[in-house]
Amino acid sequence: MFFVFFLSAWMSSLIGAGAGAQGNPEAAKLANPVAATPESVAAGAQVYQRYCRSCHGVNATGGSGSDISPPAPDLTGTTWKRGSSDGEIFFVIKNGVPPELNMEPWGDRITDTNIWNVVNYLRSLAKKK
Ligand code: HEC
Repeated sequence: MFFVFFLSAWMSSLIGAGAGAQGNPEAAKLANPVAATPESVAAGAQVYQRYCRSCHGVNATGGSGSDISPPAPDLTGTTWKRGSSDGEIFFVIKNGVPPELNMEPWGDRITDTNIWNVVNYLRSLAKKK
């Protein structure tokens, strides 16, 4: 993880692709290494439907929450509380949102490549709006 982080931070500094520094400036430096091909988007959709739909809704437009979990935000808009760059979204999915972790860390169940696929999937939903 740290090696990958370092490597992509280094690569993005090389190509000068610094993303906007909002939620998490360090994570924002992470460049998305997975091209948003139809295959990647389809793989991301599968992962999303399996792990994320229950809280964020079937179309990722947000959920109403429950007794044990607060409402999960819309993931198709342009407003991202935890940062809107691909790197920040990746970081949130991988590591969750502490300290409550209502948004759990998924890094132990979903591979990095599949997390990037989910990021690509969410971006594709936002574009359709
Ligand atoms: C148990 C319910 C639950 C599940 C399952 C869940 N989330 Fe979340 N998620 C949340 C909640 C609640 C938040 C808001 C956390 C906060 O910002 O305090 C959140 C926040 C997020 C954010 C940050 C949004 C922003 O505005 O910055 C992203 C991205 C996200 N989730 C993606 C995912 C993905 C992708 C999955 C599936 C791998 C997933 N979530 C599964 C409940 C869930």
